Amino acid sequence: MSTGLLNPANVSEVVYAQARGRLADRGVDPDLLLGEGAFGAEVDVAGFYLTLGTVAATEKAGQTPTHSAARLALHAGLPNEVADTLFLAYNQQSAEEAGHGDKVFGNAYFMLGGAAPSGALSAVGKTDDSATFLLPHADRKTNKHTLSAFAAFLGGIETVALQQAFPSLVSLCERWDHPVCRDLLLQIRDVVRPEESRHVLLFRYVFHQLIASKSEAIIRGFLDQTNVGRAQVGGEPLDRAAFTRLVGANSPTPRQLLGKERSFAS
Ligand SMILES: [Fe+2]
Ligand SMILES: [Fe+2]
Repeated sequence: MSTGLLNPANVSEVVYAQARGRLADRGVDPDLLLGEGAFGAEVDVAGFYLTLGTVAATEKAGQTPTHSAARLALHAGLPNEVADTLFLAYNQQSAEEAGHGDKVFGNAYFMLGGAAPSGALSAVGKTDDSATFLLPHADRKTNKHTLSAFAAFLGGIETVALQQAFPSLVSLCERWDHPVCRDLLLQIRDVVRPEESRHVLLFRYVFHQLIASKSEAIIRGFLDQTNVGRAQVGGEPLDRAAFTRLVGANSPTPRQLLGKERSFAS
């Protein structure tokens, strides 16, 4: 079984019992069944609640690495326009991940159980560790390589979030008529999805600007690293054909990455 971003089956009995207690204390029935979750198992309200905590912690965990990646992009020997675009887009993504973690998912988690989500729930580990390797070295080529590997890894996580995690949360929310769920559905639609779509565009931008014109071995390395990121949050690996469809034929434009142009045709 994968390390499940959305899989309550991977949660320990102790954590699960604690979640059920918190919900019951606030008058929420933890055993109410909501239906099938992202990994095929039946999810109850306690499982949904734990998933919210995991998503909140994981989104927040994305803030520090993307903040570092923005700065690393200025030391990677890239053409000015590409370096500037990566700085702006990762800097914006850093702020957006924090916003999701605290404002959307963190608040919904708090509303249901009266406790803040713990960083220990993060599916991607401790942020400070993951950001250390993004500190710039003297050698710009090393920095460029680190940045590409990070972009692929993060893109893997982002694609699972956008295509599996958020749709699954939406479908669970639609099956539970609770005020927290009604608010969450609106915030996922209006805030989370447009921002996450841009994060996947940024992954596509890095691929087209730094990798697409390189050798098959380098492209394969980027795909492998994408799949490491997907596995981190319980996603299936992409094969070469699915990867090619995902990155599309063209690079997104800088304005699209920053949300200044909404439509993007691949
Ligand atoms: Fe996010
Ligand atoms: Fe994201």
